[in-house]
Amino acid sequence: MTTTTPGPRALHAAVGTARTRVEGREKVTGAARYAGEIPFADLAHGWLVLSTVTRGRIVSIDTAPVLAMPGVLTVLHHGNAPRLHTDYVGMLGTPPDPAAAVFQGDRVPFAGWPVALVVAGTPEQAREAAEALVVTYKQEPHTTVLTTGDPVAYAAAGHMPAETGKGDLEAELAASAVVLDEEYTTPEEQHSMMEPHAATATWDGGRLEVVDSNQGAGWVRSELAALFSLDASSVRVRSEHIGGGFGSKGLRAHQVSAVMAATALQRPVRVVMTRRQTFSLAGYRSPTVQRVRLGADPDGRLRALEHRSLNQTSTVYEFVEPSAGVARVLYDAGAHHTANRVVRLDVPSPTWMRAPGEAPGSFAIEAALDELAERAGVDPVELRLRNEPGAGPVSGLPFSTNNLAACLREGARRFGWADRDPRPGLRRDGRWLLGTGMASASFGAGAMPSTALVTAEADGSYTVRIAAADIGTGARTALTLIAADALETTPERVRVRIGDSDFGPAMIAGGSMGTRSWAWAITEAASELLERLAAAPDIPPEGITVRSDSTAALSALAQKERHSFGAQFAEVAVDTATGEVRVRRMLGIFAAGRIVNPLTARNQLVGGMTWGISMALHEEAVRDRNTGRHYSPDLAGYHVATHADVPDIEADWVDDHEPDDPVGIKGVGEIGIVGAAAAVANAVWHATGVRHRNLPIRPDRILTTPAAPDGGAADA
Ligand code: MOS
Repeated sequence: MTTTTPGPRALHAAVGTARTRVEGREKVTGAARYAGEIPFADLAHGWLVLSTVTRGRIVSIDTAPVLAMPGVLTVLHHGNAPRLHTDYVGMLGTPPDPAAAVFQGDRVPFAGWPVALVVAGTPEQAREAAEALVVTYKQEPHTTVLTTGDPVAYAAAGHMPAETGKGDLEAELAASAVVLDEEYTTPEEQHSMMEPHAATATWDGGRLEVVDSNQGAGWVRSELAALFSLDASSVRVRSEHIGGGFGSKGLRAHQVSAVMAATALQRPVRVVMTRRQTFSLAGYRSPTVQRVRLGADPDGRLRALEHRSLNQTSTVYEFVEPSAGVARVLYDAGAHHTANRVVRLDVPSPTWMRAPGEAPGSFAIEAALDELAERAGVDPVELRLRNEPGAGPVSGLPFSTNNLAACLREGARRFGWADRDPRPGLRRDGRWLLGTGMASASFGAGAMPSTALVTAEADGSYTVRIAAADIGTGARTALTLIAADALETTPERVRVRIGDSDFGPAMIAGGSMGTRSWAWAITEAASELLERLAAAPDIPPEGITVRSDSTAALSALAQKERHSFGAQFAEVAVDTATGEVRVRRMLGIFAAGRIVNPLTARNQLVGGMTWGISMALHEEAVRDRNTGRHYSPDLAGYHVATHADVPDIEADWVDDHEPDDPVGIKGVGEIGIVGAAAAVANAVWHATGVRHRNLPIRPDRILTTPAAPDGGAADA
């Protein structure tokens, strides 16, 4: 037994100071390994074979010629794969997506459906054999096009109520001096994470080990355990470095097929998705068709608000893109109605992607507010200030904090909004028409139960273990700062280990809730550890470990409207001869709770705003209605904003502090995209006088969308 006093008390709080990523050196030197790069002895490689038809049945799979090819070890398919247990509800409240629970039947519900896994000694052998595998199908007719007013659409809840409503909409619209009734659409969008999905599965002494790239090691572990009817303690999932997720990295076909193959062959098997495979296997954001009806008094105060959104899902899995939800937070009206509906099509299953709901929903509602401002002759910033709700418009609950007005005022001041001439189409810079636009933003701030292990080491340092995921966000660094403060020491004395399901249940990196959820558990464990050390400062060689579980504390939280807010401002230049739109500058001011690490938080916000530029101008996955397949499912055909598209983006924040959180955190992962596309689209209107209600605002749309006869709104 050694006698050690705890580390020196920190003179300054670490939270709030700018720190580079603790794993930054490992990443830039290549020492940090991604899931597909970690060496394993005796590794075999699986290559997924995807359906070439969009709907039908598998008639036969001709495995014999492929099994005779060099290096081929096995071919797994619905005829020989083990039966999975799929009758359970996972951590996200849904059964597993059948596209992930692979090879359970002969039915093909969409193009790019996994039909087989070819396993060989090298990736090249596996790929060659997979491409040679002949699969015969009986094709059936398909429908892949989302259309407004589809009679088979139905109201669907997802993670929030399908419909909300109060007041007489028609009566309030009739009593309104200014009205609007418009349709807005957003296309299918792909996550486009830099690192495609990769997993290696191996059995080790009766335990299943999976090294993966995911947004929650504990989450994937519990799903794999359920699917394969294994005890959760006999499955371990690790996911240390992740090259982006954006919502796509949960349970997918690659982990499940790798486990099947590793079990069949009794050796490690790695399955990596190609970029093209991610287009059908990794989820995506559904296209949306949204109708917004607004009615307001002459001063712009809303009397009526209706927001209805329709999205597509697959025939095998229901996912709701809850776009109508954002109006339940941002705006109140005497008559207030929102609805999310889905229609089942012969398309891959959509999923969570970059502010699911809020991103496309804020495009529609914030573009509509801009049109209302124009029609009412009220400044767009002032219109939003006049419509600030005092409490949750639907729930009636108080806001924990709502600093949207401060964001709007600070953003307007810094952007120079006061100098703006509201009339569209007046400013020129050579061949360019110039315009500015703005939008409001909100995103839920929540925390979910997590467990953490915090150890006081005999050398005076501390080790934190939590099954958190750093998908590129800087979470590992943020948690280091949080733990340092909670342990009253310096970040240099704290080691944070994440990405291992053996550390116990924890929230995933999702919903902008990761850091807040993990911080809660770490703070709890740290304070109990300090108490123990105060009572008995002797630390044995193995250290003293405290385990926390935030479940009880979180369930005692009062019900409130808890959200981050923001104000987005954009300036664009439009060449109406070529159709080119350039974003010249962008400013986002956010109220997102206490900012843990200004460096990585700003990185998250600027990243979110970049997604917004990309959503406004570039991203669109296009499907051929005849074949049901994508045109060019790759990063050549699917455009994401790159360096040349992104100007100087400035993101900053106003003071905000979540009052019921031990650290004051709200979350910064997704708020940056909310409203960003609307700010760009509103700026395009201000530049040109033409409303664009369909994203992305492609050059051909700039060229072909006529101005409305009244000089106001029109669309192609
Ligand atoms: Mo995110 S779409 O909550 O991973």
